[in-house]
Amino acid sequence: MKQTLFTGFSPSTRPKDMRIALSFLLFPWKWSSWKKGSFRKDITASIEGYFGEQTNALVYDSGRSALYEALKAMGIGKGDEVLVQAYTCMVVVNAIKWTGATPVYIDIEKETLNMDPEKARQKCSSQTKAIIIQHTFGLPANIDALMDVAKAFHLKTIEDCAHSLGARYKGKLTGTFADVGMLSFGGEKVISCVRGGALITKDRDLFHSLEKSQQALPESPRRVVRQHLLHVVLFPIGKRFYHLFFGKLLLKLVKVLHITNKIIYPEEKVGKRVPWYPSKLPNALAALLVSQFPEIETFNTHRKHIAVLYKKALEGKTSIEYQVDDASHIYLRYPLFMENPRAVRARAKHKGVLLGDWYSLVIGPGDVDLNEAGYVEHMCPVAEERTSKAINLPTNIHIQDADVPRIIATLFE
Ligand SMILES: Cc1ncc(COP(=O)(O)O)c(C=O)c1O
Repeated sequence: MKQTLFTGFSPSTRPKDMRIALSFLLFPWKWSSWKKGSFRKDITASIEGYFGEQTNALVYDSGRSALYEALKAMGIGKGDEVLVQAYTCMVVVNAIKWTGATPVYIDIEKETLNMDPEKARQKCSSQTKAIIIQHTFGLPANIDALMDVAKAFHLKTIEDCAHSLGARYKGKLTGTFADVGMLSFGGEKVISCVRGGALITKDRDLFHSLEKSQQALPESPRRVVRQHLLHVVLFPIGKRFYHLFFGKLLLKLVKVLHITNKIIYPEEKVGKRVPWYPSKLPNALAALLVSQFPEIETFNTHRKHIAVLYKKALEGKTSIEYQVDDASHIYLRYPLFMENPRAVRARAKHKGVLLGDWYSLVIGPGDVDLNEAGYVEHMCPVAEERTSKAINLPTNIHIQDADVPRIIATLFE
């Protein structure tokens, strides 16, 4: 029986990360440094060094918290509108809602899955105050055109680089074009410490205001830090033995017994805030991030390599549609579009391959309350059509060349 292949389930975790997490869990002399310590400073310096050019960075407990902090610091609040693309995640929408502002959904370009600049322009009004530019799956958006819209309507700009850390637009890193760039280090992202996020900006005034409010944030509760550390240790074990009954049982148990965290909590799916958001990035998770950070390029090179193999293997398959290919794409996942994606995913699961479903609803994940998100059917028809066919193939570091034919074979009867 072959081992299960995963698209999600914290795919960037390595044995080294498990050792770091275990050391924080087991060594009593490390128990006092779960929340505070020098790793937070170290990772902030690493991010600043990576983006260069006088970039300042601030770290948070998650990307969603970082986004909320950015909107708040930009003065976004009640009565304001924020442009956000459909084909996104509910946590992005929630960050807007927490400020009191209203998300205004912009349809995507079918080929790129990124915000359509012309449709963004049409939705601008005197209430529009900010635009969130997402680089879906790591393909940079049409930044020039979107920044033109922002300029014309005096909008604050935020790049959502949750999928695109390390991707370049016209030779420059995504995240460096807007007033603020938001990074995510969640379990499924380019690099991961299970849960974490950051903001980068070159605007000194904005940075000082962000810094002030960041310093006033509470620390993440100990219970939450423990859940994240246990996640790093237990998920790889569960995945390793998933094809046997033991692995599946372990992952089920840690979930129902709340031993590990959830990527998105039930209350978030109905637009509510989890009590410990926003908070500071725990030092123990910053330690994991310090270890992952130097791997950005290596991980992305691997992703792009696997994407090339998928492309070759799928040549001539006319029943499948793709996101536009581009040298700048880092392929956090390899998205494709085909009929009956649910049935395809179920078949693949049966054959030991867990395919991804970003996004099976215009605002993912698939069981989000769209009413709470303020999304009305037909608002964004292109995004709706894409979600009805979406499947993602894994590109993470655990996928080997030899796995590609096996993964592709699961797509077909
Ligand atoms: C497009 C997008 N933006 C932002 C986020 C928020 O990141 P985080 O999980 O770190 O809060 C996510 C999370 O999945 C996302 O998919």
